[in-house]
Amino acid sequence: MKQITVSAPGKLMFMGEHAVVYGRPCLVTAVDQRIKVIAEILDKPQFELEAQDIGMNRYQKSLPDLAKGEVSKEAKFAEKAVYNFLTKNKISKGIKIITKSSFSVNLGFGSSSATVVGIVKALSELFNIKVSQKELFDLAYQTVLDVQRKGSGFDVAAGIYGGTIYFQNAGKIIESLTADGLNLTIGYSGVKADTVAMINSVESKMKNYKSGVEKIFDNIAKLVLEAKRAISEKDWERLGILMDYNQNYLEDLGVSSDKLNHMINAAKKAGAYGAKLSGAGGGDCMIALVSNENKLKVREEIEKVGGQVVDANINAPGVRVENL
Ligand code: MEV
Repeated sequence: MKQITVSAPGKLMFMGEHAVVYGRPCLVTAVDQRIKVIAEILDKPQFELEAQDIGMNRYQKSLPDLAKGEVSKEAKFAEKAVYNFLTKNKISKGIKIITKSSFSVNLGFGSSSATVVGIVKALSELFNIKVSQKELFDLAYQTVLDVQRKGSGFDVAAGIYGGTIYFQNAGKIIESLTADGLNLTIGYSGVKADTVAMINSVESKMKNYKSGVEKIFDNIAKLVLEAKRAISEKDWERLGILMDYNQNYLEDLGVSSDKLNHMINAAKKAGAYGAKLSGAGGGDCMIALVSNENKLKVREEIEKVGGQVVDANINAPGVRVENL
């Protein structure tokens, strides 16, 4: 039985979260914590899923019922990805998917989007269908929107392209950047963020005070553009300042939390060039831009205020086949 194994990286939002949902650019980097997806064709017309990391031992559905009726929360993204792929390519074969994650789904590294990217890539390899990165992006992003209704697609792009990218406008602009030397310390707040709830809270702010929020987004967009330049010039001091300004705007949007603020302040006090939350806010992770000299001190100070430092390298490769 032919089996394909692929892996897709998680992501960390570097700058531009929330504003990117409203058409502004963001910077995102892929992390070397990966989701493995194993796909095979079954003799029977059914979909099977094994995803032990999210407590799913053996989920089964007949092909005609795919993406219909009750779909268990954990299986939603995988099932929709398989359904969309089979439908688009007019294939009616049974499929088994096994997923294994090297990171906790709680970190906010984008396990759902990495899973979707991995599944679409694995299935195209399994059926020998050539798909460009853009086609892979379109199908995976559509799947995420089908399930979650909201999201900019930056996480899907990070899973596909890897490295560090400049992303805008639902993937109309995806630019790979050279970001060597970018040295980040990642601190987990211990709280799982609810991305959709955070997007909704910004949306309701937008309803009450549109021009103010639009102005914040425009300012964040300018910071992102400047940060892109600072990365290419390896101007870490400037980049740190830009991160701090970005954090201030995120606080204005009301998406930071006391815990994140404590960790960010601790990192700054320990000498980080800059620090901010990463992602939807309310929980998940913060990031600090560090030098080799202050890295250890920043780590210690984040831990002292109850943060958990996550050892993950950034700039990781995008989705790739592991077993050809
Ligand atoms: C969440 O990690 C980042 C947001 O900008 C949502 C998105 O871009 O999909 C809040």
